[in-house]
Amino acid sequence: MLEINKIHQGDCLELMKDIPDKSIDMVLTDPPYGMDLTPQRSKGKFKNIKIKNDDNLDWSNLFFKEIFRVLKKNTVAYVFCSHHSIGTFIKDAKNAGFEIKNLLVWDKMWFGMGGNWRPNFELILVLTNGRFVTKSANKDNILRYRRISPQKSKHPTQKVVPLLEELIIEPDYEPKIILDPFMGSGTTAVACQQTGRDFIGFELDKEYVKVAEKRIKEAAGCKAESDDGIPPTNKLVGILPKIL
Ligand SMILES: C[S@@+](CC[C@H](N)C(=O)[O-])C[C@H]1O[C@@H](n2cnc3c(N)ncnc32)[C@H](O)[C@@H]1O
Repeated sequence: MLEINKIHQGDCLELMKDIPDKSIDMVLTDPPYGMDLTPQRSKGKFKNIKIKNDDNLDWSNLFFKEIFRVLKKNTVAYVFCSHHSIGTFIKDAKNAGFEIKNLLVWDKMWFGMGGNWRPNFELILVLTNGRFVTKSANKDNILRYRRISPQKSKHPTQKVVPLLEELIIEPDYEPKIILDPFMGSGTTAVACQQTGRDFIGFELDKEYVKVAEKRIKEAAGCKAESDDGIPPTNKLVGILPKIL
């Protein structure tokens, strides 16, 4: 088994081979969307920087087979996606053996770059290999957490810690080891730290491994990292910027 609470640099399709069958309690991951994103914000620090493997979805089939293999029975895989990738992801996830349990919307509460209808949400596939039930019975499937501002972000497609914390704590079982094969700047690792879970992370880009390691260290030093100053695990507080 690979070392836990560490981001392993390399290709997740290769590295996952070292994870034994049925040894992981949850997959929480944000893969490239196959959209060949080129960040364009004129003064942005990520201008013209491409995300690795974002120009194709050739890896998708093997990726879903591998996460299905390593997950214990009756667990969940959350996989972020967009209209670019959802068709391929659903096909490959079903082919691997997953049931599509739900499709969550992350309402980013602030629209992004682009023309026409500017993007204000992303999607999260909820996949299971058996039984999956949430703790709460009264939540809708739209999760509202304000996105991190481009000035503060450390990765062009960075997710927010409180959103990932909600995904980690909602299942009615207690996941101990969480796998993120596409770790980026380490948001899943920080959310695991702050909810008391172990993680295994993979990231191809050496620079993002360094960014993630720094973030993990910093988050360990403070009680709760909050993106844009919003404390974690509190949806109501997350909504405040909208109504103030
Ligand atoms: C969408 S980003 C994840 C961003 C992350 N959620 C965050 O909050 O920072 C996907 C990441 O997967 C990495 N990646 C792409 N192909 C990979 C592969 N085969 N193995 C491991 N990492 C890969 C990219 O370098 C990129 O940082």
